[in-house]
Amino acid sequence: MSPKRALSLLLVLALVAAAALAFARRSSETDNRSEQTRGSGAVLGRAHTAIGPRVAMGGHLFVQFACAACHGPQGRGGVSRDVPALKRAGNTLTVSQLSSIITHGLGESANPKKPYMPVWGPVISKVQVTDLVAYIRAGLPRVANAGPPPVARDQGPAVAGRALYVRYGCINCHGPNGLGGVPNPRSADKSIPPLAGHGFRTEFNSKAKIVDFIRSGSVIGKSAVVSMPHWGGIIPARDLNALVTYLKTLKSG
Ligand code: HEC
Ligand code: HEC
Repeated sequence: MSPKRALSLLLVLALVAAAALAFARRSSETDNRSEQTRGSGAVLGRAHTAIGPRVAMGGHLFVQFACAACHGPQGRGGVSRDVPALKRAGNTLTVSQLSSIITHGLGESANPKKPYMPVWGPVISKVQVTDLVAYIRAGLPRVANAGPPPVARDQGPAVAGRALYVRYGCINCHGPNGLGGVPNPRSADKSIPPLAGHGFRTEFNSKAKIVDFIRSGSVIGKSAVVSMPHWGGIIPARDLNALVTYLKTLKSG
């Protein structure tokens, strides 16, 4: 072998060795990285479920306005035969169709004896409707920390009822502490009634009257009038009892 040949062979060998070393280093880094990723599931989870802020807000609003109470968590249905799951609507209905259903309701005059899609226009802002629509059209994904408030079942019905008042979204229409005052400009009263105070206590002077009213709801007009949703078949008897027990703890004068 000529010295020139030997030198070029050496050079080739050195290059191969350097390449092998670089490869080894890179793959060990990759191992480390995937180890880290595996080690903290949160990093991996976030990468897979990254959703935009509008969709995330939509997911929170879906729980806040109790869409989930009627349509099931993440709109999966299963609560009542009369309330559809929403996955299909998210795939087939347009932005303007969905916005219109949320704003104006659906089915309220067809059969007031069954749950209907409430009119939300005067209660939910346009931005909130847009976010709800974005959420539905994104396939109603799971949104972290968007679950409903926990309901303590072992501290008496009034404590449970206080959480259920939020969980079923009563608070959005009747206000905190049942104070009322939420505008309903096209209704005769111009606002959604309080569930506390002298007037309410006088008219609804028995548990049975309140339970009956929550079950049946009340169609007081078409969109843009907000009516009391029909909760029969949605809220079980135990929860109705807890809600009414809670309402009795609110101001009576
Ligand atoms: C009191 C129960 C109830 C609540 C609360 C409720 N819905 Fe509905 N929703 C219904 C019922 C019942 C229907 C079916 C109406 C019909 O077709 O006659 C419906 C229909 C719909 C539809 C149309 C579905 C389709 O396939 O045509 C959409 C979209 C919808 N609701 C979204 C929402 C959103 C968003 C919220 C929360 C802001 C909400 N709903 C809250 C009862 C409810
Ligand atoms: C979409 C808005 C909305 C939601 C959500 C809602 N309500 Fe109502 N509610 C109304 C309206 C509007 C009336 C007035 C109906 C009428 O005058 O016939 C009403 C009336 C009532 C009444 C009778 C009070 C009165 O003076 O007429 C009771 C009791 C009541 N709601 C309880 C509840 C409870 C409990 C919840 C939660 C499970 C709830 N409501 C959720 C809109 C709502």
